[in-house]
Amino acid sequence: MIPVTSTDPRLEAFTTFANSGALTEAQSTLCAALLAENQHHLFADWDPAGTRDADKLAFLDSLLQADQSYPGGLPAYIRNARHLLAEASAGTNPFDGCTPAQPDIVDLSTFGPEYDKAEATGLECLGQTAIVLVAGGLGERLGYHGIKLDIPVETTESTTYLAHYASFIRAASKRTGRRIPLIIMTSRDTHPGTIASLKANANFGLADDQITILRQELVPALSDLDAHLALEEKYNLILKPHGHGDIHTLLHTSGTAARLAAEGFRYLMFIQDTNGQVFNAALAAIGVSEARGYDFNSIAVNRVPGEAVGGIARLVKPGHPDLTLNVEYNQLDPLLRATVSPEGDVPDARGYSLFPGNINLLVIRLAPYIKVLEASGGIVAEFVNPKFADASRTTFKKPARLETLMQDLPKSFSSGEKTGVTIFDRTWCFSACKNNLADAAAKAAANSPAESASSAENDFYLAGRQKLRMAGMTVTDGPVRSIRGIPFTTGPRVILRPSFALTLQDVRDRITGGAISGNATLILEGDTRLEHVVIKPGATFVAKAPEGTQAIHTNTTIPAGATYTLHELTDAEMSSPDTPEFLKIRGYRITPPAA
Ligand code: UTP
Repeated sequence: MIPVTSTDPRLEAFTTFANSGALTEAQSTLCAALLAENQHHLFADWDPAGTRDADKLAFLDSLLQADQSYPGGLPAYIRNARHLLAEASAGTNPFDGCTPAQPDIVDLSTFGPEYDKAEATGLECLGQTAIVLVAGGLGERLGYHGIKLDIPVETTESTTYLAHYASFIRAASKRTGRRIPLIIMTSRDTHPGTIASLKANANFGLADDQITILRQELVPALSDLDAHLALEEKYNLILKPHGHGDIHTLLHTSGTAARLAAEGFRYLMFIQDTNGQVFNAALAAIGVSEARGYDFNSIAVNRVPGEAVGGIARLVKPGHPDLTLNVEYNQLDPLLRATVSPEGDVPDARGYSLFPGNINLLVIRLAPYIKVLEASGGIVAEFVNPKFADASRTTFKKPARLETLMQDLPKSFSSGEKTGVTIFDRTWCFSACKNNLADAAAKAAANSPAESASSAENDFYLAGRQKLRMAGMTVTDGPVRSIRGIPFTTGPRVILRPSFALTLQDVRDRITGGAISGNATLILEGDTRLEHVVIKPGATFVAKAPEGTQAIHTNTTIPAGATYTLHELTDAEMSSPDTPEFLKIRGYRITPPAA
């Protein structure tokens, strides 16, 4: 036991308590370390022994938990915070002396031989790629009362995001003969729900040892420039999310990154909790990493200048290696104006910015990644964003905290790691479910991506239709209708499961000719082949070949009949407690064909 000493009279009750044997050795050591970091306020004016002792111990536990989940412990957090807060107070511009230039780009926003080649290369590397799913976010904008991974990406068969991701991993494992690992980052908010969902669904067919769960923890808020940890009240820390950059820390501190490398994995593919499109583009992106030797490859989209999405720029600074980084759009324009472009971010001949939009889908090569993590101790590019209450920039409007973003990893590069960007068509690679219906409708009205449950489902079917077109099927879209202010194409609603096709070449190999139109529904699963199959409006065709079998459908016309039907929810249904929330966030339901 390390005795806690202090001559401060306000700490008398605490020191008596600490030295009475009430503290574990770890708690005692931490208290001494915190006092050494000038955190006396945490222990000041404690109640005398016997009053609120349980609260005191819970408080010490919360400090210990925060200490253990941060590399270097709370003293390191406090020191990092002081340094970053001093910079923020001084108004240090992180881009000082930098000139933005276009990053190294591979443009796969249109299909063709280059796309196919990238996909084929990616398929060769798939067995050496682990999937990292960051799923610790609160989803405040969506306001859904459960974990986002449990929301169905489509409501024809109601496949949840987690089930969809797992189905890709199962199909990829089967194809490559290698168990593809799934690493899921959870948080306090999402951990129990994620575990429950995996358990209730028998891991969605994945083996126990195929899944690694890494739980991110909250970090203490800071009340001033001296990084005093903020208290809600006596014995109660204010804790806040640290950000999705925690995934890098956890992959390092848990030993997961090193284990995967030892098992022969070469790439990590980072995906988000609600993006049903990601595996359309993943293989081609991995292929680009392999062909171009990218250590860090951002899947990105074309972006119009001024669009409220971060732009990826190569920052050139004399005497420093170039740094390819996401620059928030409200920082990019002023930086351009102050350096190379007096007009700011201007469109190219196609109307796009030179700086593609970041969507936080990353392919990272494992070997250099591990070196970067080792050198940084796993803490990647923290920043702090205090809202100052005074002109002297010394007091905060509310407590701040250190944050970290996963896309900022290149800030920790130092050995000439190669960064690049692969551009895909937006709805092909990214259509997230982030916004509640009202906010999504406002975005749609402003011609921005709605990023709602309905727009995500709409794009899921759109990608299915796109794949059929690429295979030479004639696809005629049904009318677009506005459902609660968000455009929704009535059909064909096409679901091609990963067990049916992982690549565009798979789709071409399994579909020959045929046609589909209007509000028809098509679902293909397993080793199924369609040769000159015509699916009429109002028809449903579901072809699922069980494992180990092949189903070939030739020269068939499917007429209108009992079919999946889309119904808009009435206002009464929208407010009814009987309507499931995953439907309320869409504004419609799809009913199956009558048996
Ligand atoms: P989002 O931008 O969607 O943020 O995160 P969010 O926190 O989930 O939603 P809002 O902002 O509260 O509405 C992008 C991805 O990063 C994950 C999310 O789960 C999502 O997959 N994330 C975000 C984490 O894993 N941890 C975090 O601390 C934050």
